[in-house]
Amino acid sequence: MIFVTGGAGFIGSNFVRHHAAHEKARMVNIDCLTYAGNLANLSGIDGERHELSRTDICDQSAIECLFEEHEPEAIVHFAAESHVDRSILGPDEFIRTNVLGTFSLLKAALGYWRGLAPERQKRFRFLHVSTDEVYGSLGPKDPPFSESTAYAPNSPYSASKAASDHLVRAYHHTYGLPTLTTNCSNNYGPYQFPEKLIPLMISNALNGKPLPVYGDGQNVRDWLYVEDHCRAVLKVLHNGTPGECYNVGGNNEKSNLDVVHAICDVLEELQPSPGKSYSSLITYVADRPGHDRRYAIDASRIGQELAWSPVETFETGLRKTVQWYMAHSDWLADVLSGAYRHAQASVNA
Ligand SMILES: NC(=O)c1ccc[n+]([C@@H]2O[C@H](COP(=O)([O-])OP(=O)(O)OC[C@H]3O[C@@H](n4cnc5c(N)ncnc54)[C@H](O)[C@@H]3O)[C@@H](O)[C@H]2O)c1
Repeated sequence: MIFVTGGAGFIGSNFVRHHAAHEKARMVNIDCLTYAGNLANLSGIDGERHELSRTDICDQSAIECLFEEHEPEAIVHFAAESHVDRSILGPDEFIRTNVLGTFSLLKAALGYWRGLAPERQKRFRFLHVSTDEVYGSLGPKDPPFSESTAYAPNSPYSASKAASDHLVRAYHHTYGLPTLTTNCSNNYGPYQFPEKLIPLMISNALNGKPLPVYGDGQNVRDWLYVEDHCRAVLKVLHNGTPGECYNVGGNNEKSNLDVVHAICDVLEELQPSPGKSYSSLITYVADRPGHDRRYAIDASRIGQELAWSPVETFETGLRKTVQWYMAHSDWLADVLSGAYRHAQASVNA
């Protein structure tokens, strides 16, 4: 039995699906279903293997009760506010969930772990899922981020994730809690909320809407297909060294503009545009304040120590992603209309 937090969101739900397909342990999915949590992301997952607990990670006593009731072997912590633009408009929720929520999970986990028998204490893991954005921004010729790159977060989102990473580190060093941290680059794939670059562009293009590109479109990100991230998280969970951090990336540096053109090309091939080309919908909009110029990840540690490498190239992963959104127009329509929130309302807190 393991806990997964934030398992109704994008990466968390992909992880729950991947875990259900490849592992034996049952999962309790702790998710309070914010706008980013969608029950449809969990459709078809075996109910014997997976149970949703609608719980806020900031509610320490509720989390303590869950630990007491289920006695998990591990906790894989995805729950967070995750969208940089939202963190600029309203940072409070990012501090609450990402910093205080992680802190309350750590406190509850430590209390539980201290009460375990020595053998179970040794096996327990607290895996914290974080981002490459904590390292700040790179110049065009800078080497990629390694695990020893100094933290330099620039947005309220990355600052809140950096703070949570530091708390996780401190709980290992001070109390001995067996923690692991992963810092991953930009993910894309099925079930991603269409406020993020790739699903937003696919959705807008399919609906004949403008494709808004920030600034000059030359901001560079390192893209990783979500299932490759899930495989990395499992590798770290099973074989990572407690107290360590692992960078995870796809070795796929692309400018935003190149990503949007690649999406348009795949769409032209799979569903040729009825009128003007998809790429003619590209529109440049005012840049995001403080927009980091470049992220790149050196993932050699997880490659060498845990034998992980991505299976998908950017081309194969992007094609799968475009195909998924085309085949799941109902999912997309429910998210865009807000209808998915009616289903959320029927789940008891
Ligand atoms: N998306 C990326 O490209 C990316 C890259 C690297 C790391 N990450 C990290 O991976 C994790 C998951 O990212 P995502 O893109 O899947 O996020 P997401 O926004 O799609 O999902 C977040 C989930 O957390 C839940 N949640 C939010 N606040 C909560 C709270 N207080 N209590 C319980 N549940 C809560 C939401 O309901 C949602 O289901 C985050 O920690 C993020 O920082 C994301």
